[in-house]
Amino acid sequence: AKVGVLISGRGSNMAALLYAAKADDCPYEIVLVAANDPDAPGLKLAAAEGIATFGQSHKGLKRADFDQIINAQLRAAGAHYVALAGYMRLLSPEFVAGWEERMLNIHPSLLPKYKGLDTHQRAIDAGDSHTGCSVHIVTAALDDGPVLGQTPVAILPDDDADTLAARTLIAEHQLYSRTLAAFVSRERHPDWLLNKVRESAL
Ligand code: GRF
Repeated sequence: AKVGVLISGRGSNMAALLYAAKADDCPYEIVLVAANDPDAPGLKLAAAEGIATFGQSHKGLKRADFDQIINAQLRAAGAHYVALAGYMRLLSPEFVAGWEERMLNIHPSLLPKYKGLDTHQRAIDAGDSHTGCSVHIVTAALDDGPVLGQTPVAILPDDDADTLAARTLIAEHQLYSRTLAAFVSRERHPDWLLNKVRESAL
């Protein structure tokens, strides 16, 4: 399965997906890495690995117009799935509709808790025993689609947001490549996604 990855900066989750794709038995390949910042460090890393890249600032463009530029790049690259990996943009409903049930995102919290930003600080402030990460189907609402996989990460007494984010990133990298591989390999049974949605609703 051909996957396009959208990033905004460092791209360590993109790198994790990319390295996992080098395994002979990986059911997906990355055909494009695109960023809403031409200077995103992740673009240089992807290019060095021989992956097609595209970088353009979204500044000065209407949301739907920028998304259409990205969409055209994804289609031209032959992508059939999209993996958002540290892509710090809310997507237009038109873009989401064009990739319905074929676009995933990784979010650094145990959804549905802590949608949005500053997730680790919020978990620490709440006195939670764990934070974690979630891979979910992308819908028009922020961080809100059916959850396909999660990894809890214990919060240590002396953790701050930075130490917790760094440790959670290890879990993100493992979770994302495993969940994306499972998702693109799912038996073509239409109920697969329905069952996943039902499970995540339990
Ligand atoms: C990751 O923690 C991801 O969950 C969040 O932003 C961070 C992006 O890091 N959305 P990277 O660009 O994948 O290194």
